[in-house]
Amino acid sequence: MQLPDPMRLFQEWFAEACDREKSDATAMALATADSSGRPSVRMVLLKQADARGFVFYTNLASPKAEDLRANPRAELCLQWPALERQVRIAGPVENVRAEEADAYFATRPRLSQIGAWASHQSQPMNGRSALEQAVAIAAIRFGVKTVPRPLFWSGFRVVPQQIEFWHQQPFRHHDRQRFTRSGTAWRHEWLFP
Ligand SMILES: Cc1cc2nc3c(=O)[nH]c(=O)nc-3n(C[C@H](O)[C@H](O)[C@H](O)COP(=O)(O)O)c2cc1C
Repeated sequence: MQLPDPMRLFQEWFAEACDREKSDATAMALATADSSGRPSVRMVLLKQADARGFVFYTNLASPKAEDLRANPRAELCLQWPALERQVRIAGPVENVRAEEADAYFATRPRLSQIGAWASHQSQPMNGRSALEQAVAIAAIRFGVKTVPRPLFWSGFRVVPQQIEFWHQQPFRHHDRQRFTRSGTAWRHEWLFP
């Protein structure tokens, strides 16, 4: 019997989740750790998934980006309650190429592009009006011109070394399959639930 390819299995589950999940199927928890090992977790959106890895975009001056520069490894966790499934993806993290980030940024709604310029992500601000003011300044700055990608905003790609698929079963006899990259191939194991 041929073993399932984890990327193909991911695409199958993801397509089903996009179809059936009421909330955003691309939402995923991103776990990072700083240079001292202190963990942090927060949600981000999956913007691309292919053989090269799993991409999300963010502010490069944010705490998560700082963690990833100090310690370029991460774990992602997607949960799809409608399918009773979870996927965990762990591995080293690389920067998305500038041209790729530019191309994605260009597809974003204009107000999101302006928001990227206006937000000093995770820095304290002096009330909501500080954001509104920063948005207004960025909107005036670009006028009707194309909004370029800020150099402080880009993507990270988690290159999977390990992908685990969890599927709920009756009486907690859940299915867990773990794929671990070994060279160009994947090693497959079943795990006790
Ligand atoms: C469903 C959901 C999706 C989110 N997607 C993103 C995202 O794609 N990129 C991002 O920078 N922040 C996203 N956020 C906000 C982050 O969770 C977080 O608040 C922010 O990035 C700051 O994180 P940091 O201080 O750890 O860097 C999202 C939040 C939620 C609830």
